[in-house]
Order: sequence, then C-alpha cells, then structure tokens
Amino acid sequence: MTHVKITETILRDAHQSLAATRMTIDDMMPALKDLDAVGYNALECWGGATFDSAMRFLNEDPWERLRKIRDACPNTKLQMLLRGQNLLGYKHYADDVVEYFVARSIANGIDIIRIFDALNDYRNIEKSMNACRKEGGHAQGCIAYTISPVHSVEKFVKDAKQLEEMGADSVCIKDMAGLLLPYEAFEMVKAMKETLKIPIELHTHYTSGVGSMTYLKAIEAGCDIVDTALSPLALGSSQPPTEPLVATLQGTEFDTGLSLVDLTKVAEHFRGLREKWIASGLISPKVLGVDVNALIYQVPGGMLSNLVSQLKQAGKEDQLYEVLEEVPRVRKDFGYPPLVTPSSQIVGTQSVMNVIAGERYKMVPKESKAMLRGEYGKAPAPINSDVQKKILGDEPVITHRPADDIEPELENIKRQAAEYIEQEEDVLTYAMFPQVAEKFFKWRRAQRHGVDDSVGSVEDGYQPT
Ligand code: CO
Repeated sequence: MTHVKITETILRDAHQSLAATRMTIDDMMPALKDLDAVGYNALECWGGATFDSAMRFLNEDPWERLRKIRDACPNTKLQMLLRGQNLLGYKHYADDVVEYFVARSIANGIDIIRIFDALNDYRNIEKSMNACRKEGGHAQGCIAYTISPVHSVEKFVKDAKQLEEMGADSVCIKDMAGLLLPYEAFEMVKAMKETLKIPIELHTHYTSGVGSMTYLKAIEAGCDIVDTALSPLALGSSQPPTEPLVATLQGTEFDTGLSLVDLTKVAEHFRGLREKWIASGLISPKVLGVDVNALIYQVPGGMLSNLVSQLKQAGKEDQLYEVLEEVPRVRKDFGYPPLVTPSSQIVGTQSVMNVIAGERYKMVPKESKAMLRGEYGKAPAPINSDVQKKILGDEPVITHRPADDIEPELENIKRQAAEYIEQEEDVLTYAMFPQVAEKFFKWRRAQRHGVDDSVGSVEDGYQPT
C-alpha cells in the first residue's frame, strides 16, 4: 500500500493565491482543532507572503500567529515556505540573519521548511537548509518548475539529486504557475523515484485547469505527497481541491486514509469565509477561472496581468502580443530563469521596455542590471554576452554566491531596532521589513496605551508561489 500523503495549504497558499493573503488568525482559530484531527502530512500555514501581510494589512504579529497555530495543532506537522537566502523578504541577507531566522521559526513551532531559490541556484538555499537540519527541522529542497529549451526532465532529476546530496530530507517540485502537464509530471516523478531515496512532493496551482490531472498522474508515478486546499479555497489560482482527490484515491493502492466526513466538516468553516470574501470583492471572479494563456505563453497568470497593466500605464495596450513575443527572447538573453518572484517581474518589465522603446535594452531597470551582474545568483543557462556587455559595459560580474559579499548584520540590526524589541523575534521582523515593522511596532505600543493608530492599507503585488 503506497499511501499518498496530503499537505493542506488552506492556511497559507490558498488564501495567498485567491484572497491577497488576508486570512487572519481569528479566521483560522475556529477550524484549527478540526484541521489538526484530519491526519494531514502537514499544514502549510506560515511563510510566503503571510508574514508581511499579517503585519502590513492585519495588524498581526506573525510570530504570535505561528505560536497560536502550534498550540491549537499539537498533532500535525506545521510547514512554511522560505525563499532561501532572501528569507521572506526581497534581498539576500547575511548568513547570521538566515541562521537566526530559521532557528526562531523552528523554536516557535515550524517542523518542515520548504526552501526555494528563484533561479534554482542551490547555493542560495544551502545555508537555510543546513540551519534547518541543525535545529532539528525537516529541510525540504525545492525545484522551481519552468519550461525552456534548457529545462528537461533530465535536468530536473539532476537538480533533485543535487538537493538530496546537499542533505535535503525531501524534494518538492514547485509548479507555481500551473504549467506542469499530467504526462510530463508522470515522467518526471517516475524518473525521480528511480534516482532518489528521499520523498517527492508535488506542488501546483490550478491556474491553467490541469492541476488535479497532474496530481493523479504524478501519484501513479509514485509521488509521495501532494499539496491541496480544501474546496472552499481551492481551484483557480489556488491548489487543486483536497476532497475530490481523497475520494478519487479511496480504496485504491494510493488511498490517503483521510475521511471525507472529517474534511467536509472543516471545509464548512472556510465556506463561510469564501462567501464573505466573494461578497466583499476580496476574491475576484478572475482568480477563480481557468487561464489557458498560462499554457499558451508559458508565463504565470500574475505575470501576464502585470504586463497588461504596465502597457496600459504607458498607453501601449495594443503592443501586448509584441511583448509576449519579446518575453522568451529576454528570458533567453538572461539565461532562462524560472518565472517566479523576482525574475518574473524583471523579465516582464524588461520585455515591456524593449517593446515600448522600440530598441532592445535601450532602457534597462536596475533590477535587470543586478540580474545580469549575478547579484541574484547563477542563471540556469549562460547569459547572452552581447546583451551583458551592452548593459553592463566593463562592470564586474559576480560568479560566487551573492551572500558571500554580505558581512554579518544581525548585531547591527539589533541596535537599529532596539527601541521596539519586545521579543527576540522582533529583530528578524525588522530585518526583513524595516518600514512595515516599525509601523507595526508603533501601532502595537500604541494599542497598549489605548491609542488608536490604525495601519493603512496598501495594494500588494504578490503572485502565487
Ligand atoms: Co504555491
């Protein structure tokens, strides 16, 4: 009996993908006891955009949230998503910050850390993976799935093997854009199972409408764990739904062992949230549909809508198809990075500029320069040297791990944040989001003194991860 395990994403990715990461701890609390009783492989409940969003929009301390979930779910493993050396922020941090962050995450209740790097440059996840294992956590190495002439089943299997050799406890194929097709998944998982000893987990989004089929084929190929969301917050740009997969596998050699009755009971709570969020407009009908463009252009749904809005701002909406043709060319020039934050924004913006300017690489944002300079790490394929020369001139290029250039910074950050510190984790909060954290810390202090100083709301630009 090859029991397939299920990781439930309703507390993290599902609401990040459908509802701008706005689920509060109060929204979660009434369901936690029942979620804990289901028997999931893990509850993905922290990291990704939840950390920033909790503070920025919900006036919640993310660490406090984690502790509450831990208390309410003593029987289930808690999982988080971590962007390697970027942690939950947008730049590389010094190793001492990375190690401290991982240690505090595990101390506050995290069991499994899923760690990825946008370029699949595994040097950028090595520190956090080692720190996780040192603290007794389960370190899951992650491959960002993408389609390009240099990406193949063989390459991904080689990547997975590399992660295993680095000490990963399991490997996740992370298909953030919903591009992985069922038979491709079958082939890839089968090859990985033949090559690796550690468990394989598959993570996809329903965006292009193939997610449940992809899971089924991956399971037939021996996939150990898949990520699903309870039906009220599944489908669309979220994960495939939990209950239909559990029903599909019931009584087969892949039976998950989960009870549909238990799942339906927990789902009921989230159905209320879904209805509330649809009524308020937080969940828009757009994210609930099937977006076949993702399959045609092989760009994530979030990236496509960014391109449209950038063109709109420039009054050049009619040039969308030129931009869509330019995207693969820019991607090739930049060494075929997977299209996930931040590379999706960088490649997208550069493509728009190339088309609008009427000359390629006449306008070059600093993020494009940083990517060509190697500041995010090593791209999967060689960078076009003519383009690199045109953009960088004689500027030096980095070939070592970018964080090697960063001096230890924890002590300095402790000094900067000193006046706000109420718990040791506050230093890490401040390290990642100094402005948002400062505002939140001030609000927290004011609350205690009975002063109302509500934090305003700003549009966020996250795309599903
Ligand atoms: Co995701």
